[in-house]
Amino acid sequence: MTSLNATSDIVTSVQADALILGVDANGTILSHPQLPAEAVTPLQAAADLLGVKGKCCATTVLPGTGTAARRIVLVGVGEATARELREAAGTAARCCGDDPDSVVVAIPAADDAGYTALAEGAVLGAYTFRDYKTSAEPAEGEEPWPGTAWHVAGASDAAIERASILVAAIAGVRDLVNTPPRDMFPGAVAGIAQDIGSQLGVQVEVWEPERLAQEGFGGILGVGMGSARLPRLVKVQWKPEDSKGHVALVGKGITFDTGGISLKPPKGMETMKSDMSGSAVVLHTTFAAARAQVPVTVTAWLCLAENMPSGTAQRPSDVIKIYGGKTVEVMNTDAEGRLVMADGLAKAIEENPDIVLDVATLTGAQGVALGSRTSGVMGDEAVRTSVVEAADRAGEDFWPMPLPGHLRAGLDSQVADLKNIGDPMGGMLSAGLFLKEFVGDTPWAHLDIARPAFNEGSPWGWTVKGATGHSVRTLLELIENHAQA
Ligand code: BES
Ligand code: MN
Ligand code: ZN
Repeated sequence: MTSLNATSDIVTSVQADALILGVDANGTILSHPQLPAEAVTPLQAAADLLGVKGKCCATTVLPGTGTAARRIVLVGVGEATARELREAAGTAARCCGDDPDSVVVAIPAADDAGYTALAEGAVLGAYTFRDYKTSAEPAEGEEPWPGTAWHVAGASDAAIERASILVAAIAGVRDLVNTPPRDMFPGAVAGIAQDIGSQLGVQVEVWEPERLAQEGFGGILGVGMGSARLPRLVKVQWKPEDSKGHVALVGKGITFDTGGISLKPPKGMETMKSDMSGSAVVLHTTFAAARAQVPVTVTAWLCLAENMPSGTAQRPSDVIKIYGGKTVEVMNTDAEGRLVMADGLAKAIEENPDIVLDVATLTGAQGVALGSRTSGVMGDEAVRTSVVEAADRAGEDFWPMPLPGHLRAGLDSQVADLKNIGDPMGGMLSAGLFLKEFVGDTPWAHLDIARPAFNEGSPWGWTVKGATGHSVRTLLELIENHAQA
């Protein structure tokens, strides 16, 4: 198992597969209380010879001759902000050789937040998902992958504890999303939520299909009825005794999105196991709030369905009834996320939370507008602003987007209260306007994380290939800030 420790040993005396050192913008190796100056001199000479510049996240690997480590990884940290330290540690963590047993990070940070960032970045940057690699089948009595022991020199226990909570949440999201959809269907997600919830003392309630029908969750049922594995709604609640407010989170949990009868082309389907990212994020953010004992009530609603085409699937032109009674004409079964989210939002606001945030891989248009690293946030201006500010502090990228009133008319239906697609231009915004119909007066923001949730490109910083866990950091930051507000 991967472990994360602080160490007070002199770095050059610790046997390690790799020793990660920081380099400032002038190419100078950063001194560290546990790094003797005489040990650094030859490394600095080597760095100078190579012309190491120290641009943030630029890495150089040197042999560890003369040190206790096999290799030295030099990484640029820019201005050494928490965000830069996290990104730099993440990049450096992938330069430590194959399956290192132990790595020492000896980059100085100004405070606990900086050490937490280093620890988070290193462990998350080195994350791999190997559950389906046959080489992981262990010999008798052996662990499949022993994992890496990470030592962050100079970090306090509190800094490490904090990093462990975020790492568990983000890696937890990645594991759920990376698991093939054959194994990660609505009932499986509900079961995992119940297992972890009972360990943490977090309440978990599951709506089985019969109850969804009795209580009128027509969005989740409509989307899920084409699959042999029927949908679920899951409520996960962290309710501390000293609660100072209530934040509701609603997550899109399409365990696989084929598009349904409005079938996607094969290319468009390749990443669609990621369509449950929103639900994985709200689930693990709630667990992180519990682990961190945040004094705010957090209620997560996981809207889980598999969008499949079949003889029982919903058709374009069908009319469904969302929880609470509004009717929707389903013109395109691939615009399914907003249907399950409408049920979840309508249910979530019944409890009168202070704010409701919904998180969804909702539209391809998000990526067209903002690219693959920046999520869009829409909704009430004050809530939207707090999301952007929380993201800035947390080291993630969100950008505010409008909900132009004139696009609302495109969602009018001839036969029902609404239809599920509107003007083809500005698809992210029409989807947001659709959701707005279901939040009543509750202060609300909608987070469209379609592309940032799943990295199809090369790894960068602490973001690996595949599921990223994007937006956990922002949401936890926002919830913690809510306690002070
Ligand atoms: N899950 C997709 C959105 C998506 C696309 C997420 C690419 C991540 C990467 C969503 O259900 C969808 O299919 N949206 C349609 C809506 C359209 C039919 C109005 C889209 O964006 O094409
Ligand atoms: Mn879809
Ligand atoms: Zn979808």
